[in-house]
Amino acid sequence: MKIEPFLTEQFFAEYEFSAEFLLASSDCETISIAQLLQMSGSTLEELGDLTLGYTESQGDPQLRSQISERYLNISSDDVVVLNSPVEGIYLSMQAILERGDEVIALRPAYDALNNLPRHVCGSIVPWNLVPRATCWELDFEALESLIGQQTRMIVVNFPHNPTGYVPSNSEFERLVRLSRKHNLWLFCDEIYRGLEFGPTIPSAADVYEKAIVLNGLSKTFGLPGLRSGWLVIRDKELRAEIINWKHYTSICAPTPTEFLARKALLIGDRLAARSKAIIEQNLKLCEAFFDSVQDQFIWRRPQAGSVAFVELDLTQVGFDSATLFCHHLAQNFGIVLLPGRCLGFEDKFVRFGLGRSNFGDALHAFAKIIKTL
Ligand SMILES: Cc1ncc(COP(=O)(O)O)c(C=O)c1O
Repeated sequence: MKIEPFLTEQFFAEYEFSAEFLLASSDCETISIAQLLQMSGSTLEELGDLTLGYTESQGDPQLRSQISERYLNISSDDVVVLNSPVEGIYLSMQAILERGDEVIALRPAYDALNNLPRHVCGSIVPWNLVPRATCWELDFEALESLIGQQTRMIVVNFPHNPTGYVPSNSEFERLVRLSRKHNLWLFCDEIYRGLEFGPTIPSAADVYEKAIVLNGLSKTFGLPGLRSGWLVIRDKELRAEIINWKHYTSICAPTPTEFLARKALLIGDRLAARSKAIIEQNLKLCEAFFDSVQDQFIWRRPQAGSVAFVELDLTQVGFDSATLFCHHLAQNFGIVLLPGRCLGFEDKFVRFGLGRSNFGDALHAFAKIIKTL
């Protein structure tokens, strides 16, 4: 069955590997395998000694145990290791949903979080984040009105790509209460967890028995090329169903990835702190820059994560849409910003990515162009 185009990946594919300045990437600055081994006190010989047989479908028990330690109420049995974080969205939607089910999905969103449930169910019910003057807001009355007889699942992502939104503790409790009251699955993508600049909320896996939590090493830990991800699912039957789906996609994770993921988690807090320091530095640059261009851009400071969603005043910027603006920047100046339309939102927003250490140079190049508009 056909599926919608993955607009974000298609946009990146056009420019990502040729443009000089990547100003929209959601991952954080990466490190080499040699650095990872050295930082975690392991050696290249250890990596070389691995054999390349099949591994356990649910994931290496030692890796699952390390993952479970990052939660409060989770055992290694609750964890399913993936072949990439995005695989977890595919497996979950296939395992849980059927045509005719209703899924309420936060919007804007990373494409797969909207497109995959829409692919299985035929449509989704969007729950829009609301832009206020200086921040983003969740509308719980809207959510309550969206829940109906056919609703099976709510899909959220906190910290949120692309806005950097994180709910307060009481809002998060309200979301869990509502999910429990209506017996809904709560798919919570927590891949930017650990990059909070202020208060944090619990993992959905620790507080809700029907949560499906996605995480991985691509963003907070800066290791997207490792393709390491996991799901946390306390419901035994669903877990078995998801593992069954995984037999059709990848069977098991690659041995080298599981090995390196174990090493990465040994130094997980250091890797996350490194990413956070880069983002905080880049946030300062952003605040100074957006303060100076308030007539063209509306800046809403992210509360967490490695991305920010910036609104354009299209008439001031001189383009009919953010998409045209982004193509113009990439084609003429080698600067890559992601149009908000790729993330299912109005075509007057662009995503900035704050996790790279050369962000300052890219922002400087962007600032020079903006002055000429
Ligand atoms: C919210 C969210 N979830 C999942 C993913 C998938 O991560 P990966 O590309 O490493 O599979 C991304 C990647 O951008 C993301 O932003």
